[in-house]
Amino acid sequence: MDYKLWDDLAADYDKSVEDNQTPIITNYLKREIEILTSICSKITNSAKNYSIIDMGAGTGRVLFALDKNLKNNSLEFIGVEVSEPMLERANQKNQTHNTLSNIEFLKHDLTESNLPEYFESSGPAIVMCLYNTLGVIPSDKRQMFVDNMKRIAGDDGLTILTAFNGDDFGFVAPKMYHPMIPMIKQIDDNSFDEKNRIFQNNLGFHSQWFKQNELKSLLRTEVDPISIDVKIDDKLHTFGNVYLDRKIK
Ligand SMILES: C[S@@+](CC[C@H](N)C(=O)[O-])C[C@H]1O[C@@H](n2cnc3c(N)ncnc32)[C@H](O)[C@@H]1O
Repeated sequence: MDYKLWDDLAADYDKSVEDNQTPIITNYLKREIEILTSICSKITNSAKNYSIIDMGAGTGRVLFALDKNLKNNSLEFIGVEVSEPMLERANQKNQTHNTLSNIEFLKHDLTESNLPEYFESSGPAIVMCLYNTLGVIPSDKRQMFVDNMKRIAGDDGLTILTAFNGDDFGFVAPKMYHPMIPMIKQIDDNSFDEKNRIFQNNLGFHSQWFKQNELKSLLRTEVDPISIDVKIDDKLHTFGNVYLDRKIK
């Protein structure tokens, strides 16, 4: 996927994601943030000064929500993004966000092998990559990227991935992407490749979905993920998962 594609999607990203009023999307995002808040609050309640780093932060959706929920002004939040228009929107939102907060956005390409060098001076970190962003990273760069996240997190840190549920692609993918049409722009006859678990369109949007065992293997962990469940007709369905590289108490 051409990263420039994200520049064109930036204007409609919030409409499709955090401002989307479709119950499946709002419920998914609400649950994802609840789980992330609970994990971050357990880790950052220690004496250490943590950074929370969001890889592929988009317009800052998760960092702003975590800052609001964690209410801990000693935390440093860093969003890493390659797309200028996404960064512009994130910085605009930051201007009207709580002025006591410590949130900044940096421009880097997540596929750079030397990514950890930019974070050498940071202490322990919670390094996250969310909303299936790993699925838009080229397949030959994914292991290096996840290993880099773990290096940046450090021994006292934590690495978190949230991803859509590739074990149930056929059911979940149409329910996620149809409401996100303002961002993805079009759904074609061949958009849902169920065999390979890929959502794609003829504009160049391409997102790989992963099975649980694939993501555990990329994270080099045996820890089972926390499911992001969404209720449809009174029945809970797993739409995504939150993966951690180690167990937390
Ligand atoms: C699916 S969006 C997720 C945004 C945000 N994390 C969220 O949860 O709403 C993926 C984001 O990753 C960014 N991205 C894609 N490839 C990237 C790369 N190689 N380096 C840095 N950012 C990248 C895109 O510009 C886009 O903002």
